[in-house]
Amino acid sequence: MDAAIKARLNAYAPYSNYLVGAALLMSDGRIVTGCNVENASYGLSMCAERSAVFAAVGVGSRTIHACVVVTADGGTPCGACRQVLSEFHDDDHPMQIIAVTLDGAITMNNWLRDLLPSGFGFGGRTF
Ligand code: THU
Repeated sequence: MDAAIKARLNAYAPYSNYLVGAALLMSDGRIVTGCNVENASYGLSMCAERSAVFAAVGVGSRTIHACVVVTADGGTPCGACRQVLSEFHDDDHPMQIIAVTLDGAITMNNWLRDLLPSGFGFGGRTF
């Protein structure tokens, strides 16, 4: 949660003014963070959760055990991010998704499998 709050301070969101920080707990114990990065061409903007996932893969860590997302209003991860997170779940460990406000109040605490029913995976559901 602390890592996500810190990452949120790096958010680049001059168009929406909606700052988002995300922190992933990886299966190897590492914590990898991300923030949203917007663009003048709005559709090119990237969410904090996906930024964190891509950063994790980029440092050689691929299995996510938990994701904390921090916003001023305790908003929850969008559908696109849920799908991207699911790509890196652990078959032996349900992925926990926690949404919090700036003061750490939990607005959602749930398993990804319950937040992404029938998510896409080649060969059918992967969890
Ligand atoms: N955003 C995220 O970073 N994560 C989400 O799950 C939903 C939305 C960002 C995208 C955009 O920069 C801003 O929040 C407003 O949509």
